[in-house]
Amino acid sequence: MQAGLSTTIKNALQLETKLTHPSFKIIAECAAEMNVEAYVIGGWVRDLLLNRPSKDIDIVAVGSGIELAESVARKLGDQYHVHVYKNFGTAQLVYEDYNIEFVGARKESYRQESRKPIVENGTLEDDQNRRDFTINALAISLNKNDYGRLLDPFNGLKDMENKIIRTPLDPDITYSDDPLRMMRAIRFATQLNYTIEEKSLDSIAKNKERIKIISKERISDELNKIILAQVPSIGFKLLFDTGLLHYIFPQMVLLYGVETKNGKSHKDNFYHTLEVLDNICKTTDDLWLRWAAILHDIAKPQTKRFEPGHGWTFHGHEDKGARMVPQLFTELKLPLNEKMKYVQKLVLLHLRPIVLAKSEVTDSAVRRLLFEAGNDIDDLMKLCQADITSKNEYKVQKYLKNFELVRQKLKEVEDKDNIRNWQPPIDGETIMKAFNITAGREVGIIKNAIREAILDGIIANEYSEAYQFMLKEGKKLGLKQS
Ligand code: CTP
Repeated sequence: MQAGLSTTIKNALQLETKLTHPSFKIIAECAAEMNVEAYVIGGWVRDLLLNRPSKDIDIVAVGSGIELAESVARKLGDQYHVHVYKNFGTAQLVYEDYNIEFVGARKESYRQESRKPIVENGTLEDDQNRRDFTINALAISLNKNDYGRLLDPFNGLKDMENKIIRTPLDPDITYSDDPLRMMRAIRFATQLNYTIEEKSLDSIAKNKERIKIISKERISDELNKIILAQVPSIGFKLLFDTGLLHYIFPQMVLLYGVETKNGKSHKDNFYHTLEVLDNICKTTDDLWLRWAAILHDIAKPQTKRFEPGHGWTFHGHEDKGARMVPQLFTELKLPLNEKMKYVQKLVLLHLRPIVLAKSEVTDSAVRRLLFEAGNDIDDLMKLCQADITSKNEYKVQKYLKNFELVRQKLKEVEDKDNIRNWQPPIDGETIMKAFNITAGREVGIIKNAIREAILDGIIANEYSEAYQFMLKEGKKLGLKQS
């Protein structure tokens, strides 16, 4: 009988059998004792219907959510405690591996940042009305008379079937209640591969400026969720087309557009970047490697030149781009720690493997790249491979083939010289002892010279050759052997 039904609809049948977690029965018992209605609502219900099990449960009580939470905790036993967030009118309880949040049904919008206590109590319908999207407004009853019944006043189930993001109320109202929802709409559209209803999309374009009142941290959280989706370009195109990107990440917008001079055009770096990003997402789930893909060409607008007889160039964009990373991370409220340094390093080095692939692959060039990239060499290779995009399939294939050569060579040199995380065989201590000098400029010069000579293959990567070389370098500086 169920054969022709979609997974969503099948999941929506006999919901009471799907409320398997013991907490639901306990919440239902407490609600009945207190004579209040209780419902599971929002993301957990959506994800249940979409077959994406989640451990965050939102419970809405038609009455006091906090009192319901306290009663549940008492029933569970002494070791369970409720965290009350008075300003939000919510209470949180961690039970087994579930994080359960209780709230009283509200007439007012679901404002997470509001500092004003939420006072206006409402019915379940009032509460559903004020949620962001129809697919997030679905509720399941935990009440005796209709336990497990789906309450879907805005046809969220149908929207799931049709893969549509739609607001329960007029989108202008929903988005002005909380402008972050404009980003959430795009985030859900990207994660679920849904279409945003046209009216809603128009409203985002109209209200985009309101995103300014939202904290940068919350915006970046949503942006990161878009970046972590399977095909993030969906989100970036929506952000760009609605104009939101111009407010949240203007430097990326500068990549957009093609200029033509003397019949020569460069590629559109915005769409190129998105292609690189989608490419890299096939090989990594790492947020920061994905960020490196987003930022790899970020300085192209600032370094663009037209050289007559040659065409468009972007000399030094990798260097300038790397230098822009700390400022961009600061503005986007991304962490200013080793993750930032990692992105910076990949942006700086992103051209190196491809340069190698285009020319003759010498041992010393490979050794140098291995030394500079260290343990990030594999990620750098992924980035570089993702960067090979062209309309000309022949060109792509040719580069990819050369690229395979670079990979082989990297492996050979790595096996032979073990240069990743490498330290030269002579350290500062040895240099100081050999010439009876204290730490200073000369030690640095000699250390550098030894490193360069090994990387260039002038001397072998071993102690005695390096020692002899050190003596010669010291002599050049006028130092006497002790
Ligand atoms: N909600 C809302 N407006 C917001 C944020 C949240 O209406 N700006 C409502 C939605 O009903 C949402 C629920 O609160 O489903 C829970 O929000 P949250 O935990 O932030 O997100 P989820 O929808 O659960 O999605 P995810 O877990 O993927 O962030």
